[in-house]
Amino acid sequence: MTTPSSDALVFFGATGDLAYKQIFPALQALMRKGELEVPIIGVSRAGWTLEKLTARAHDSLAEHGGVDAAAFAKFAALLRYVEGDYADPATFTRIKAELGSASRPLHYLAIPPSMFATVVQGLANVGCTADARVVVEKPFGRDLASAQALDRTLHEVFDEAAIFRIDHYLGKEAVQNLLYFRFANAFLDPIWNRHYVDNIQITMAENFGVQGRGAFYEEVGAIRDVVQNHLLQVIALLAMDAPLGQDAESMRAEKLRLFRAMRPLDPAHVVRGQFAGYRSEKGVAPASQVETFAALRLYIDTWRWAGVPFYLRAGKCLPITATEVMVELKPPPLGVFDGVSAARPNYFRFRLSPEVLISVGAKVKKSGEAMAGEPTELIARHSLRRDRAPYERLLHDAMRGDPSLFTRDDCVEAAWRVIDPVLRAPPPVVEYAQGSWGPAPAGALVKSATGWHNPVAEQPPCGDTAAPSPAKEKS
Ligand code: BG6
Repeated sequence: MTTPSSDALVFFGATGDLAYKQIFPALQALMRKGELEVPIIGVSRAGWTLEKLTARAHDSLAEHGGVDAAAFAKFAALLRYVEGDYADPATFTRIKAELGSASRPLHYLAIPPSMFATVVQGLANVGCTADARVVVEKPFGRDLASAQALDRTLHEVFDEAAIFRIDHYLGKEAVQNLLYFRFANAFLDPIWNRHYVDNIQITMAENFGVQGRGAFYEEVGAIRDVVQNHLLQVIALLAMDAPLGQDAESMRAEKLRLFRAMRPLDPAHVVRGQFAGYRSEKGVAPASQVETFAALRLYIDTWRWAGVPFYLRAGKCLPITATEVMVELKPPPLGVFDGVSAARPNYFRFRLSPEVLISVGAKVKKSGEAMAGEPTELIARHSLRRDRAPYERLLHDAMRGDPSLFTRDDCVEAAWRVIDPVLRAPPPVVEYAQGSWGPAPAGALVKSATGWHNPVAEQPPCGDTAAPSPAKEKS
């Protein structure tokens, strides 16, 4: 269900990192498709001019996907710049003047959450919020209490239906496909439960560090940066029951039920790690206790998932950049052939990035007289070429008022409720070597015989459809 499109885009934090890496490329892509033809007003307190912002946008595109001359010309003609401190009422008077006759703006707050209240109030004071929408970035709050406080601040001015909380993972094709694959196929449902599933693992590995974002990371850490949002959202899509309808509210209702069934984390089931050298990064405290790696075991207390462990792991400076879900099934009841029941059991592997694929791990007989087998994978590969980038998709949806891929207040708060015990009593950080799979104690979290599944580089598709079996390692 969509409502009238926004007739202007105001983005706060126009000179910042997010605008540079994500927002400008998304805007150009929308321009190219003729899907964005409204005034675009960048706001910042950096002391810039419109010329400087336009040049910055050009640099951003040159670095992220390339400049499309025609689309960029359209974009530059629609771009405006408002300079000013967010605490100064005159800034908002200038924004209103730039909005002209536009009456349904979308305000994108690509700024620290500590500024939200000031900006939202400033906009309300000049009458720029009545039919407006607002987009806010994750992490939404620092814990449950601060998320609730942020919600109260936003609700003073905006209805919940006008608030769009971005989690860019939800804009990824591969993540949406988790839900589609589960509920568009009949074969999965009978086995998608505690009777057949042994454990579910999600690994979000990055082979780079904090990339100059040390000061940001010090405020956040891996748990707030990617676990509370991206990874819990992925679990929700893997584990929720079928929604009663396709509309956003039915979807959110099922997700909420699932988040509420997640058992709040036991800090004894969480390992925090920090890569060696992190403390020498710019903006990082010399004795920082912030984690750049987190691994944890989580349970979902529903009829379907009771007793099934969900293992999550995310970290910087790991051996590879890849995000993968592994749904490991229970072994066959008897080892009729070559000890088949003891070897790696069947699994579903969802590679969410950088490639997108779904594979089924199975054993087949090796040719020869013996009834001996070997592991193989049946792989469905997805081409990324025509996909919208997540920010393009999400901005487009927000402009049209489609909330399906955004997070509702109660879901965000329920996710914080799961994480809060670890934030209150965090286990100590353990140093790990760059290029390793994190600190050793993370290995002990996994109770299955096969241990953590470590994603490996994908083989490019070729005539041979069977990719090598994924690495397995108990560490
Ligand atoms: C962001 C985090 O939300 O997601 C980053 O702040 C992380 O730390 C990034 O690197 C990963 O997203 P993607 O889409 O590149 O896998």
